[in-house]
This record gives sequence, C-alpha cells and structure tokens, in this order.
Amino acid sequence: MKDIKRIIAKQLEKSIEKLEWTVIMDALEYPPNPEMGDLALPCFKLSKVLRKSPVMIADSLAESLNVDIVERCESKSGYLNILLNRKYMVNNILKGVIDKKYEFGKNDEFAGKTVCIDYSAPNIAKPFHIGHLRSTVIGHSIRRLHEFRGYKCVGINHLGDWGTQFGKLIVAYKNWSSRQLVEEKGTEELVRIYVKFHAEAEKDSSLNDQARKWFSKLEKKDEEAVALWEWFKQISLIDIEKTYKVLDISFDSYAGESFYNDKMEPVIEELKQKNLLINSDGAMIVSLEEYNMPPCLIVKSDGSTLYATRDITAAIYRKNTYDFDKCIYVTATAQDLHFKQWFKVVELMGYEWAKDLIHVGFGMVSLGGAKLATREGNIIYLDDLFKEASKRVLAIINEKNPDMEDKEQKAQDIGVGAIVFSDLSNNRIKDIDFSWEDSLNFDGSTGPYVQYTYARACSVLRKAGLSDDEINMDGIKSNHMTNDDEFVLLKTLSLFNEKIDQALKDLEPSCISRYLIDVCMAFNKFYNCHTILNAQENKKFRILLTAAVKYVIGNGLYIIGLKRTERV
Ligand code: ARG
Repeated sequence: MKDIKRIIAKQLEKSIEKLEWTVIMDALEYPPNPEMGDLALPCFKLSKVLRKSPVMIADSLAESLNVDIVERCESKSGYLNILLNRKYMVNNILKGVIDKKYEFGKNDEFAGKTVCIDYSAPNIAKPFHIGHLRSTVIGHSIRRLHEFRGYKCVGINHLGDWGTQFGKLIVAYKNWSSRQLVEEKGTEELVRIYVKFHAEAEKDSSLNDQARKWFSKLEKKDEEAVALWEWFKQISLIDIEKTYKVLDISFDSYAGESFYNDKMEPVIEELKQKNLLINSDGAMIVSLEEYNMPPCLIVKSDGSTLYATRDITAAIYRKNTYDFDKCIYVTATAQDLHFKQWFKVVELMGYEWAKDLIHVGFGMVSLGGAKLATREGNIIYLDDLFKEASKRVLAIINEKNPDMEDKEQKAQDIGVGAIVFSDLSNNRIKDIDFSWEDSLNFDGSTGPYVQYTYARACSVLRKAGLSDDEINMDGIKSNHMTNDDEFVLLKTLSLFNEKIDQALKDLEPSCISRYLIDVCMAFNKFYNCHTILNAQENKKFRILLTAAVKYVIGNGLYIIGLKRTERV
C-alpha cells in the first residue's frame, strides 16, 4: 500500500536497526506548520533506545534517508524534518486514488477474519430514541470500517424483546387501550400506556403485582400472553424498521433477547458444573469479589433470568454459530459494569475467547441537561427529529433552488445526514446534551458541508463530461501540479488509509468525520483559488484532483453512513 508514512518508516527502519518500522510510523508526525516540513520525526523518544542524543539521531537520519518520495530532509533541534517529493506525489499518490476510485481505502488486511457487531438493539414497545441512534450509527460505522479492511462482518440487532416490562405493558393495554388504538398509533400508543402504567402504579401498587403475574404467564408460554407479546413486538418492529430504512441500515440477524429463552438452561447448568454458581438468598449469582466487582446475577430468586444471563448465552451461541475473531458490543458507557461482569464470567467458564469480547461505550445523551427516560416521558423520538431536520432543509432548498429535482428525498438525505454527522463528530465517549440548534446547524463542520462539497466535486466532473470509466492518468505529467493548494489537497487525500487504520484501532468513527472536514476545507480552498475547467495545460490534472476528492469523500461518507449526494 502506498501510504506516505509507511513508505518512509520502512526506509528509516534500515537506518534505525533497533526499532521496528511500525514504531517509527507511529512516531512520525504531520507538523501543523509547513516550514517544519511535510512530515517530521521527533527523535526525543528514540534517544533512550538508541543511546544517542536526539540531535545526533536526526543528523544521521537526515544523511541516510534516501528514497523517491523524499525531496529533501533536514535535522533541526532533534527533529528530522522531511519534505516530500511533489513529482512522486502526483505519479504515485494521485495515481493510487485514480486507479482505485471507489475502492480506494479498502484492503484485505484481515481477510478470513470474522467480526460480530452487536449494535442498535432498541427495546420493543419503547421509543427508538436518540440514545439508540448513537448505538446505531456508531455500530454501523464500525462495521463499515471493518469491511474496508476485509473482515467478514455479522451485524446483530440484540433486540430488547424480553423482560418484566412486557408484564406491565399487558396490564396497561388491558386497562387503558384497545386493539384499534394500538393499530392506529403504533409504538406511540404503546409508549403512552407504558408511561401511564408507571404513573398509576405510584398510586396503586397492586398494578405491579398484576404485571409480575402477567410476565410470569408469558414465561410459562400462556397463550394470551404470548399472543399479545408477539403483537406488541410486531407493531414496534414496523416503526423500528422505518427508521433503519431512512438510515439505510440493515442487519444480518435480529436474534433478540427472547431468542435465548430456551438456550439459557444448559448454560446455567454449565455454570453449576463449573462450580461458579452460588446461592444467595435464593438467587443464583457468580461472585466477582476477587475482581472488585459486585456479583453477576444469573437467576433471580423467583426463577427468572436476567439481561446478563441472556448476554452470556448469546456470546456462546455466537461463538458456536459464527466462530468470530472479535465480538463487539456498542452501548452507552452506563453499561460498562454489566459488560465487565459478564465478560469475566465467560472467562471464568474457561473460554479463552473471552478476550475477544469488546465493549465499545459511548457518552450519554441528555435533553436540556436532564436524563432521557421513557418512564418519565423525557424523550425525543427519532421520527420527529428526522422530520424536523428534513423540513428545515427543504425550506432552504425552496428558497435557494425551488426547481431542484426530487427535493423531498434530498432534503431528507441532508437533514438526516446532519444529525448522524453531528453524532459522529466528537469522540464517542463524550456526553452529548442534545440541542436542535447544534444538530441542525448546516454551516461549519457539519454533514451538510461535507455533502455539499461532495456534490460540488461531482458537478465539476459532470461539466468536464467525464464519467468514472473515463477517469485515468493518461497524459498527466508530474509538473502539472503547480501550487501549494494542490499539494496540500493531495497530501490530505493521501491520509485516508491512515485515518481508516486509526479509526479501526480506536473503534472511533469520529476520526473519519473529522478527516472529511479536512478534505473539504483543502478542496474548497483549491476550488476557490484556482480555475479547473478553464485551466490550460494542467486542466486534466485539476480535474483528476477533483475526481480524487470525489472518491475519498464518497468513501468517507459511506463509512460514516451518510448518503452520497451527487446533486444538491
Ligand atoms: N437493549 C439494550 C438497551 O437498550 C442494549 C442491548 C445491547 N446489546 C447487548 N448484547 N447487551 O440498553
């Protein structure tokens, strides 16, 4: 692969015998100030290992580094500053993007490996809210990052379709709703009665007993209870799937929590056999005291199983079914302890693959500083959010370009893109206080900015009359690159592979969204300062540079799950 850092690090390895090229690659930096070189190696860290002063190291490397991609290098106060050879950049880096087009950024480094990604996992009969949106878009992007590196990906939606809430829902339905109302209003009605249940149960605690009874009937496969549960699930799924359709997301498996109902028994038995289960006041637990954690509850004193029981069972099932190399769980950091506990239980069961279970946490979403909670009714429905976003974009389109074709669909692509992008633009671990204004801000470092820039590049290529098939390096000469804006843009494009590697290593989609902003800024600077279609002998070079931008942004948008808007 023709990555700048990789090529240089491999070359430097020849002079720095004691260090591997990967270590050198990690140490290489892109200085913010071009006077310090296009690339720099701070030699301070190497000084200990090599037992030489940083200045001496930089001096000797400056002398020995001799490779096509490097124009010149100099040693300055312990830094090795490297200037790239611009001809090489055109002949190799630009060529690399142009040859691969929408394949650029993909490789098969992990071909033959399988990753299961457990994400989204909304709860049935509860609203698909903005907290689940985070799991959905982060998980989806993590999946695509793996695809770009050749993994076989299994996307799993571990639906929250089992638990005591179904007892409550049955009681609520029987008291305050009707078949007709649920059929008409869908999830909204289910949420309404769920919220009402909690309000009423405050006053009349016998409702909780009734709910427990109904859940226990459900567990014992009572016909009426099962029929209602299945119906609620069906109603919910219709709404949930609408959301996935808007986001263009699909799953390989919808095996939710209830899927494991008949699979837990053998696992509980196995835990017993392995002497891990302890009776504690009638409940069955695995003690994790030795590991400074509260015990993992496996079976309640009333005999019912728990979220953790189902997760342990699901992990074993997935290992047997998919033989994964990694299994990733994307949920809020609020569930950190839950995952630590049951990962430990799997380890104690003697499964060496426990080390391949990875929890990817993300920050909480609050609303006006308050926690989102279905029971209290402090929720934002995704549906409303998407509608509002589309409406606001449509208003802008109607003002600026009322004759645009297919404008409703485009307004939705951009409006939803704005929301998804804003979700993915900060480190996932950061908490978000949701605000309509920030999410739907179309200026600055936002989704619409990236989608508009993509459309701008597409428009240049349309005007040039070149389709993807006709884009090639024929006739391009390295001296066609004549200014720094082009060079900076090309250098930025060359970073795409590094960014994907980084994003995959940290399981951090924001690496890609931030990078896309860099690409857009570099392209827009170039676009605003130089003619493309009216250029003379370097016209084709500039068109190709624009095409390269189109491929990189296009692939970046794909990774973070935004639509490629060819025309806006
Ligand atoms: N339904 C759960 C929730 O909303 C998330 C499930 C995550 N996946 C899992 N295997 N535990 O909190």
